[in-house]
Amino acid sequence: MNADAFKRAAAARAVDFVRPGMRLGLGTGSTARLFVELLGERVRNGLDIVAVPTSDATEADARRCGIRLTRLAETPELDLTVDGADEIGPGLALIKGGGGALLREKIVAGASARMIVIADESKWVAHLGRFPLPVEVAPFGAEATRRAVAKTVARIQAPGEMRLRTGQDGHAFVTDGGHWIIDAQLGRIDDPRMMAHALADVPGVMEHGLFIDLAHMAILAGPDGVRIVER
Ligand code: A5P
Repeated sequence: MNADAFKRAAAARAVDFVRPGMRLGLGTGSTARLFVELLGERVRNGLDIVAVPTSDATEADARRCGIRLTRLAETPELDLTVDGADEIGPGLALIKGGGGALLREKIVAGASARMIVIADESKWVAHLGRFPLPVEVAPFGAEATRRAVAKTVARIQAPGEMRLRTGQDGHAFVTDGGHWIIDAQLGRIDDPRMMAHALADVPGVMEHGLFIDLAHMAILAGPDGVRIVER
């Protein structure tokens, strides 16, 4: 089995946690997309749910799959969000945002009673930080914000490279919310909670990819099968 098959296995297990009448948050990324497709199959077989997508891409996927959509403005409390992650560490602390959807992903996860993270086993880590931490910033003053982020990190640990994410055209990658992303190469984040609070305090930072105390369960699929980790 390859990584895609593992992602699909994790997504399929997550569908079992969906109950009729649920209000769902739909994550973003290749694993979340598989969940949306599998959920769509259940919907076409009569499962009645309503969902809030965390990105324009997921919205398009969900529409294509026939999933009834709502917005947080109309449905501000959700029962369950299912999303992928870039890293899953101790206490189910996560790094997310590799796909650039971290702001909406965190708002939707925060509005959900439960969050299930689905991933292949390669995302499971002993320490967060090898994956560059996405920090979403306002374009206004982005360079000043980048320097402030670097100084903030330096108060906690050795700061690595902080690079503005660019798209294929070489220009700044723009999120669905119109912001830019700085990818912070931190190597190892010894205290994710402290880092999360410190980054949230930097003016110009709209959100960062550390998800602390948001995930309740991780469903991980690998060569030895599917396992569930609960917080
Ligand atoms: C999107 O912004 C991210 O948070 C994704 O959930 C994360 O990058 C995982 O994506 P994959 O499932 O494609 O690895």
